[in-house]
Amino acid sequence: MHDSEEEEMTGNRKKEHLDICLNEDVSAEHNYWDDVKLIHRALPEVDMEEIDTSTIIFGKQLAAPIIISAMTGGYREAESINKNLAEAAGELGIGMGVGSQRQAIEDSSLESTYSVVKDFDIPLVIANLGAPQFIPQGEKDPFTVEDARRAMEMIDADILAIHLNFLQEVVQPEGDMKARGCLEEIQKLARFLPIIVKETGAGISRGTAMVLRTSKIKGLDVGGLGGTSFSAVEHFRAKNEKNSGKERLGRTFWNWGVPTPVSLMVANIGLPMIATGGIRNGLDAARALSLGASSAGMASKLLPFAKESSQAVVEELRLIISEVKAAMFLTGSKTIRELEEANCVVVGGTAEWISGLEMR
Ligand SMILES: Cc1cc2nc3c(=O)[nH]c(=O)nc-3n(C[C@H](O)[C@H](O)[C@H](O)COP(=O)(O)O)c2cc1C
Repeated sequence: MHDSEEEEMTGNRKKEHLDICLNEDVSAEHNYWDDVKLIHRALPEVDMEEIDTSTIIFGKQLAAPIIISAMTGGYREAESINKNLAEAAGELGIGMGVGSQRQAIEDSSLESTYSVVKDFDIPLVIANLGAPQFIPQGEKDPFTVEDARRAMEMIDADILAIHLNFLQEVVQPEGDMKARGCLEEIQKLARFLPIIVKETGAGISRGTAMVLRTSKIKGLDVGGLGGTSFSAVEHFRAKNEKNSGKERLGRTFWNWGVPTPVSLMVANIGLPMIATGGIRNGLDAARALSLGASSAGMASKLLPFAKESSQAVVEELRLIISEVKAAMFLTGSKTIRELEEANCVVVGGTAEWISGLEMR
């Protein structure tokens, strides 16, 4: 296959992912945030107007602990989606990541589909590339530290997320299945650039977090199970392509991974953690903070608004931030630091996960 054909295919793939997420139910069977209960404080001893949702992560001040997670870029229609998300992130003073910048590294004519975010004053901008692209896959040359630097410069990023998506790769009909050497590449990148490691829906276990601690990474996006399942997304792609083997694999592994709240509890190695995976509203975000996250990341729930307009994204995010505030009020937390210390109990399947892990 020619390089240009492969680039076009990757662009189409990003579009197919987005369309599938908009039109099919690709959520994991169980949303584990329902198992995390913040304890109600009947005497909050704080006034709503005193509550301050601002926080600092990676040295950047956000007006609320919310980050729009990596989703798109690399094909023409993605530009307006990234613009709508970026305009909202700038207006509200929250963080934003773009989708994998692989296509623009391979074809600079696609840069604007990502660099549109530079038109807005966003306090934390996160670049994105996949770990599998840093090791040889077939005939392609792997990305280098210079390519990673280019991805950051393309969008004036503050930090670069290296995503881990081997669940998706294994189900994807044309997936990259070489994984040996990724850790060494992450260690190398982290010596030169500010890096976070981000899972994309299957979570980070304690073992993986401990291994990553050997690098100079700045943080983790635990990207756990409970929200968008990329096994489900690829199941639908395989179905459209009449690839029955991959369609079945995607169905079988639909609920594979470490739930996001569990991942937050076990992958805490003293680095800032972003909690992505299944965050539906501001209450879920508050729950994540009480379990050790520094911010909550949201992807698919914002997609329909991002398709519509920047104003629709702003309105939805305002509601989400007001839910964070309500949770802070009801737990008597005047600041995000106090919310992080708020008590919660973990019940149901999530509690079983934790006790199962403790027994091992
Ligand atoms: C349409 C779509 C495309 C995505 N593309 C990327 C990507 O390019 N890079 C990445 O790191 N994560 C990507 N993700 C994963 C999200 O950033 C996030 O980790 C995941 O969807 C779980 O969050 P959610 O449950 O809020 O959707 C994508 C998610 C969606 C819905």
